[in-house]
Amino acid sequence: MTLLVTGGAGFIGSNFVLDWLAQSDEPVVDLDALTYAGNLQNLASLEGDARHVFVHGDIGDRALLDRLLAEHRPRAVLHFAAESHVDRSIHGPGAFIKTNIEGTFTLLEATRAYWSTLQGDAKAALRFHHVSTDEVYGSLTPDAPAFTESHPYAPNSPYSASKAASDHLVRAWHHTYGLPVLTTNCSNNYGPFHFPEKLIPLMIVNALAGKPLPIYGDGLQVRDWLYVGDHCSAIRAVLARGQVGEVYNIGGWNEMPNRDIVHTVCALLDELRPSSEGPYARLITHVKDRPGHDRRYAIDARKIERELGWRPAETFASGIRKTVMWYLDHADWVANVQSGGYRDWLATNYTAR
Ligand code: NAD
Ligand code: DAU
Repeated sequence: MTLLVTGGAGFIGSNFVLDWLAQSDEPVVDLDALTYAGNLQNLASLEGDARHVFVHGDIGDRALLDRLLAEHRPRAVLHFAAESHVDRSIHGPGAFIKTNIEGTFTLLEATRAYWSTLQGDAKAALRFHHVSTDEVYGSLTPDAPAFTESHPYAPNSPYSASKAASDHLVRAWHHTYGLPVLTTNCSNNYGPFHFPEKLIPLMIVNALAGKPLPIYGDGLQVRDWLYVGDHCSAIRAVLARGQVGEVYNIGGWNEMPNRDIVHTVCALLDELRPSSEGPYARLITHVKDRPGHDRRYAIDARKIERELGWRPAETFASGIRKTVMWYLDHADWVANVQSGGYRDWLATNYTAR
């Protein structure tokens, strides 16, 4: 038995691979294109571990997919690979269409071809697990009920539109061809190996460097935050017990405005790594808002709890403390990321604000 994981060198994918191999001897074939967001240092602890087979390649490469599927005969495909940052999708949507839509299409077609060669139990057991986002449902007003799995799709950014398109392809491949798919739509993750272009890691690394902490607009946009290890355990639960063709929303029951998130990070740094120049919150600056910025996301995660018995293990207080401590303990990881293309990205996104 083997898993084929796509995007396993990214933030969530690498956490998933590490968690999986900490609990199971089932090998993982890890296909990742190593874009700016893919970082093999995340998987350094697996060096020399025969259970982890890393393949540098693109999900849009059909010949490569056919070869990997035929050679490794996985019992499941876990599809994490994507362009994942909303701001980048605003600056350059093309890569999002290519990877998130065309790449998912190619992966579905390759998996369908492989599935058609399987027989009996192996055929019945195959799963295509599509990892998606709550952003496909669009923006909520302050008092609206949280997103359930039947909430209408209303994506607002090039990123969320591309993820919504991929969700629809996955759904159609099940309804039309019978491909045994599972889809999960998760809220904002945070935790180790989070690339410091996203809110929480950016605030941590900027604060430690004495740089401004840029809050978009009024900072009252609300997100639901989930510790990445809890996302990984939810995916394991869905892969093991989820009903084929079903969608499961995954969330942390933890809605918070961005401003509160940034103040929480600052307060933890004040406690754990006080600055001689005063409280880190002095670095907060309000910058021009993200175009089309969704005001609020909230996840109703009762279905996965009722049907699969999954609930998050971390509270926000415990998860964010672990996360800040991880960044404090991994200055080398941060330095490595910052010496790459990350610097150019800061200039593209923030200079004109
Ligand atoms: P990430 O940007 O950190 O990692 C994406 C990974 O995919 C990288 O390793 C990258 O190299 C790889 N990749 C990109 N294009 C590829 C291609 N064409 N072929 C092969 N590999 C490619 O993303 P993440 O935050 O870990 O998100 C993983 C998945 O989870 C995405 O599908 C995302 O939409 C979804 N998701 C993310 C969050 C979140 O809060 N980060 C929440 C819900 C859902
Ligand atoms: O909801 C799930 C989604 O969460 C995932 O599908 C995406 O892949 C992931 O990137 C994330 O999207 P967001 O846009 O919500 O995450 P981000 O960390 O970019 O921003 C979180 C909030 O913080 C958002 O309201 C924008 C705001 N923000 C972000 C940055 C980078 C700031 O105010 N300042 C910043 O510098």
